[in-house]
Amino acid sequence: MPLHLGFFPVILFARQFNLPAWLYLAAFLLLVLFYWSSFRTRVPLYLSDRKAWQAVIPLLPSATPFRFIDIGSGFGDVPFYLESRFPLADFYGTEIAPAPWLISRVRARYKRSRVTLLRRDYAALDLASFDVVFAFLSPAAMPSVWLQAQAQMRKGSLLISLSFDVQARQPDQVIDLAEGARHTLYAWRM
Ligand SMILES: C[S@@+](CC[C@H](N)C(=O)[O-])C[C@H]1O[C@@H](n2cnc3c(N)ncnc32)[C@H](O)[C@@H]1O
Repeated sequence: MPLHLGFFPVILFARQFNLPAWLYLAAFLLLVLFYWSSFRTRVPLYLSDRKAWQAVIPLLPSATPFRFIDIGSGFGDVPFYLESRFPLADFYGTEIAPAPWLISRVRARYKRSRVTLLRRDYAALDLASFDVVFAFLSPAAMPSVWLQAQAQMRKGSLLISLSFDVQARQPDQVIDLAEGARHTLYAWRM
């Protein structure tokens, strides 16, 4: 609501500069590439931080292989951070918006990363292929993520959600991130 209130004065302000119309179109197209279908998914791009990635580490098995996916992987930070700490694991990310996905692919090449970055809607994936599913989405997305996880994830596998709980079941672990961090980590053993 406060953001919406700001739109009208900003339009009046911007009109003073007589900017060419194509500039507005270009800015719109740029935003589309980054935010893509967030009007439908109701999950915009915003990035998790190092404190969150560090908090994931103790939840993962250190001595056995596993398959990890970040559903909505943005610029790929979560799997990029974890891959060097878990040499036995396979890391995946899936991202629906073209610009973040492309940036994550370029970063992967530059880092010589072994993370597999898919450009797919996570709803179209079979989560049964993964031992750990990590999500940093939005409250609007969580009910359907939970239904998908329940229907597809194997017994004993782990669902981790940064910041967003589900109503349907109490988490098995709730980790408040270190002081100064904005988030809580929730984990469910399926
Ligand atoms: C809050 S950001 C998190 C980015 C990253 N995981 C991180 O922790 O920094 C959520 C991302 O999920 C993506 N996303 C939203 N819905 C999706 C869907 N159905 N399938 C794949 N990606 C999706 C968005 O485009 C956005 O980049």
